[in-house]
Amino acid sequence: MKASLRDRFQAMWTGLATIGASFSSSSGQPGGYYRFAWTAADLEMRRWFREEAEAIGLEVEQDRNGNLWAWWGPTRDIRPDSGGALVTGSHLDSVPGGGAFDGPLGIVSALLAIGEVKQRSVTPRRPVAVVDFADEEGARFGVACVGSRLLTGTLDPERARLLRDADGVTLETAMREAGADPAALGKDEERLASIGAFVELHIEQGRNLGPLGAPLGVATGIWPHGRWRCLFDGEANHAGTTWLADRHDPVLVFASVALAARRLAAELGGHATVGKVRVEPNATNAIAGSVTAWLDVRAPDEATVTHLVEALIAAAKPTGAEHGVGTSITEESFTPAVTFDGRLRDRVADVLGWAPELATAAGHDAGILAERVPAAMIFVRNPSGASHTPAESAELDDCLVGVRGLEAVLEELACGPPLGGAALSSADQGCRRGS
Ligand code: HGY
Ligand code: MN
Ligand code: MN
Repeated sequence: MKASLRDRFQAMWTGLATIGASFSSSSGQPGGYYRFAWTAADLEMRRWFREEAEAIGLEVEQDRNGNLWAWWGPTRDIRPDSGGALVTGSHLDSVPGGGAFDGPLGIVSALLAIGEVKQRSVTPRRPVAVVDFADEEGARFGVACVGSRLLTGTLDPERARLLRDADGVTLETAMREAGADPAALGKDEERLASIGAFVELHIEQGRNLGPLGAPLGVATGIWPHGRWRCLFDGEANHAGTTWLADRHDPVLVFASVALAARRLAAELGGHATVGKVRVEPNATNAIAGSVTAWLDVRAPDEATVTHLVEALIAAAKPTGAEHGVGTSITEESFTPAVTFDGRLRDRVADVLGWAPELATAAGHDAGILAERVPAAMIFVRNPSGASHTPAESAELDDCLVGVRGLEAVLEELACGPPLGGAALSSADQGCRRGS
């Protein structure tokens, strides 16, 4: 007897549970996931993806940019009138100490949903694929959505190859050591042209669906957001013997910038966060020599993001001068505001039935793809709203509603009118169904 969807969901979830997991020494409870690009954990996640996709009869390939594609129906079958392939998926990497759902929920749901459609002997009118985008979080090399940015050409391959992790290892070396070819990185026009639509299911990163009583929502767009690297260059010295007047303490300037970021975010109506910081030499009894801090800024519109960062740079200068500390704040990546394709969004919403629309301040590969192909997102309710923490969670029942919703959306998009929206002849409507 075939296992229930619930059992299969749980089996897949269990298959992922220990990969890249840390355990907090005090409680013995999971302390979150550490699944960074091209590490052993990432390679294990990729192996898991390959095995699960092949188990439902999909054909897996790795593209030039390290993204994994699992195809139902060969890409060469893309007919000119089909409007291109239907792609779904998400990512399997995590932030440091990440939750179980951000990324994997979209992949697990996609594999289960396609498995359900397939086993009903539906013959899709266009190829369907699940994609696992490489390095969405940018936790190791600093730039988010590396795989989708390289694919669409919004990240220069030479810059990507030279990105370094905290140990100084370049992306180029990390890829090579993981058996991938970094020389092949770069815009993949042919692949982009073959995609008719991309639909990403993702856990909600916030708690908007809960009060609305809705297990699923549809995304309208993504706030513009970016990352900046802040360098504070001071002078290391003895914590006990150096007179206060002689100090050039970069931690003080860093602290003032972190506080100013919060103040400006509240004043201007955005979000500004310093969540990662490196202090050198990092000794209790030494004044720091330098601080590197990473600033994340997001707002409903680009003008506010720009204004916030400019105001912060202006605020840092006098504090740096007062302490004799050099300061610089430079952009590492920027993602403009995203509005998801209205027609695709309506099609997804129609299939789901009542699903509220909401914008998000979280970044996604769907947002990067949206520049080039119609893209849409489905969010699954997250009762507490916690994300990028082990506390991130969704109810199993809601996850299953998500799988069923995605299944219905994929079937409609795989069998319905061309993704580009051109009219079909009545004789050419729909999919062949039957066993
Ligand atoms: O950082 C983000 O917004 C996303 O969750 N990667
Ligand atoms: Mn994330
Ligand atoms: Mn994500």
